[in-house]
Amino acid sequence: MPDPTPKPSAAPARSRSPFNNWISAAGGVLAVGALFSFALLVWIDFTSGDKNPYLGIFTYLVAPGFLISGLVAVFAGAWLQRRYAIKYAGESPDRWQLKFDDPRQRRMIILATIGAVAFLLLSVFGSYQTYHYSESVQFCGEVCHRAMNPEFVTYQRGAHARVDCVDCHIGAGAEWFIKAKINGTHQLIAYTLNNYSRPIATPIKNLRPAQDICEKCHWPEKFHGNIDVSFEHVLSDRGNTPYAVRMLMRVNTTRAGSPAGGIHWHVNRNEKVEYFASDEKRQDIPWMRVTNKRDGTSRVYRTAAYKGEPPAGEIRTMDCMDCHNRPAHVFPTANEAVEKSLAAGTLSLQLPNIKREAVKALLQKEITTAADAPQKIADYLRAKYIGAPELPATITEVQRIYTVTVFPERKADWRVYPNNIGHKDWPGCFRCHDDKHKTSLGETVRSSDCRSCHTILAQGKAAEIELLNAKGMDFQHPGGDLDPDLTCSDCHNGGIQK
Ligand code: HEC
Ligand code: HEC
Ligand code: HEC
Ligand code: HEC
Ligand code: HEC
Ligand code: HEC
Repeated sequence: MPDPTPKPSAAPARSRSPFNNWISAAGGVLAVGALFSFALLVWIDFTSGDKNPYLGIFTYLVAPGFLISGLVAVFAGAWLQRRYAIKYAGESPDRWQLKFDDPRQRRMIILATIGAVAFLLLSVFGSYQTYHYSESVQFCGEVCHRAMNPEFVTYQRGAHARVDCVDCHIGAGAEWFIKAKINGTHQLIAYTLNNYSRPIATPIKNLRPAQDICEKCHWPEKFHGNIDVSFEHVLSDRGNTPYAVRMLMRVNTTRAGSPAGGIHWHVNRNEKVEYFASDEKRQDIPWMRVTNKRDGTSRVYRTAAYKGEPPAGEIRTMDCMDCHNRPAHVFPTANEAVEKSLAAGTLSLQLPNIKREAVKALLQKEITTAADAPQKIADYLRAKYIGAPELPATITEVQRIYTVTVFPERKADWRVYPNNIGHKDWPGCFRCHDDKHKTSLGETVRSSDCRSCHTILAQGKAAEIELLNAKGMDFQHPGGDLDPDLTCSDCHNGGIQK
């Protein structure tokens, strides 16, 4: 006779699959849910036109992570089940057995399955949305309002107002994503504790290299020829005389048989320009080196005062950002901001000296917070233009200019954020293109005379600007003869000329 007291459940328990247990079942639900989310995310990834660089992380990291955990649970459940079965084979009821014939268990199984699938879907989408949001212009520019407002305001005026912050500040790929998140966490803490630096220090040291960022959209092979740029000014005289310079910028000039020359020569394939800046802001450049990448020859230029060698690790290879350091956040000078309003007609040219007075109103030393500004600006202008019919509109406009130009709380404006693209209000190109940098043979940097970077086509007031001269003309400085010992930014600082 076999065992006289068989356990009622022993027989079915032995023959059933080891996968028939609660742990494996939960794992299975997890895996199926993850697979489903994965399929959905892949679909979004392929169909969304406006690609988010991090969609990939969720699609190809987070969802598969859940899938793998689910599969691990399926097998772990089976393994535990088998071990249990071996240990107590035929002797005790199975611990984790699923009993589909028990209506109570059946209901629980169905409820748990629905709950688990819903939870998974929501959590995958939730986390995706969270990250999507943390990468959005809205989050970067508006939620962190106090800290980022100046950049957000200036960004909206720029050529890149439709390029997301993260396209320049992070870019695609997991490595930079993680760096950015670590960095972002520091920033969030600093923001919460309110101890972030004001102004936010630049140049940003951990900015991603320009090759990865700018060249995604502007690849050097497609750089075109010269571009025609006009600079429209209003002189600070009584009559607010309009004054313009129109010039052809020699961005790219092709020379037969040799690599492309012109301003974008600095980023050409065959040569590289390196430099050492002795200050944090990279405004003081005493040393630079041009290396021919093909034959390895190089020439070093240095200022007479600089005798040493630059410290290792502090030599920087020039890229887009050394000239275009303000591609998205140009802080206009007070002069430019006022000139723009005069040109647009939102400030009246009829008020005598308004160019000068508006700039002065903006630059009052007494203004220390944004909240102070409207009253101080109004008082200043009222005292200058008693009874003028244009006064109320003028006050409103100058107050508006203030809010988008000077950011006292962040200590952010053009005075702390130089733009390196030109040479008038900041040293810019003249950091290197002056007659002070020489090789050991005494050669100076070529292309430092007024015609090597641009050709002035027209200049002057009113009708004079219509007279184009294709051969180019010498610059007639409205501020009087130029002293060769002074650079432009010795006098021009964005405010009233010294
Ligand atoms: C076209 C590329 C680009 C875009 C788009 C962009 N930035 Fe920048 N941003 C830069 C570069 C380049 C710098 C570095 C300037 C430097 O190092 O001198 C910078 C600097 C900054 C700084 C440091 C302070 C300063 O003014 O230099 C902040 C803050 C900042 N960006 C925030 C933002 C926010 C917020 C957005 C979106 C609203 C954004 N950026 C969009 C390229 C970009
Ligand atoms: C996502 C694409 C994208 C990225 C990344 C990008 N740009 Fe641009 N950039 C544009 C577009 C689009 C325009 C053209 C805007 C227009 O025609 O008005 C533009 C315009 C410009 C201009 C002309 C500016 C002007 O005022 O007309 C410069 C200079 C420039 N970009 C430099 C850069 C630099 C430097 C970087 C890297 C920090 C960069 N861009 C990154 C898309 C991009
Ligand atoms: C030596 C300084 C310098 C470097 C380096 C440099 N640029 Fe420029 N770039 C200029 C100047 C100057 C202009 C003319 C526009 C102006 O005066 O505002 C210009 C114009 C441009 C324009 C606008 C062209 C147009 O038709 O509107 C783009 C886009 C541009 N640069 C992208 C880049 C990119 C991308 C890099 C890096 C691969 C780069 N630049 C490197 C100085 C430089
Ligand atoms: C870090 C130093 C540095 C800065 C900043 C710089 N340059 Fe240069 N540039 C050089 C050097 C070095 C050369 C090569 C000089 C030589 O070979 O004698 C050069 C050459 C040039 C050339 C001649 C290219 C050719 O056709 O051979 C032009 C044009 C030029 N630069 C324009 C500019 C403009 C415009 C700016 C500002 C937006 C600027 N550079 C900023 C270092 C610099
Ligand atoms: C190394 C190249 C380079 C040299 C050399 C150079 N410039 Fe320029 N200049 C530029 C660039 C780049 C700009 C455009 C700045 C911008 O796009 O905002 C510019 C702009 C100007 C402007 C218009 C500025 C404004 O805001 O109205 C004038 C005027 C000017 N240059 C005069 C001169 C004179 C005079 C000399 C000779 C002493 C000279 N430049 C030498 C590169 C150069
Ligand atoms: C000695 C001081 C001084 C130097 C150096 C100087 N400027 Fe001026 N500049 C002035 C004064 C003063 C005015 C007249 C300002 C006015 O009426 O608004 C002026 C006016 C101008 C204007 C027209 C109005 C404006 O504010 O933009 C331009 C453009 C200009 N200068 C460009 C240059 C350039 C480019 C250089 C360098 C090559 C230079 N300046 C060097 C003092 C100087």
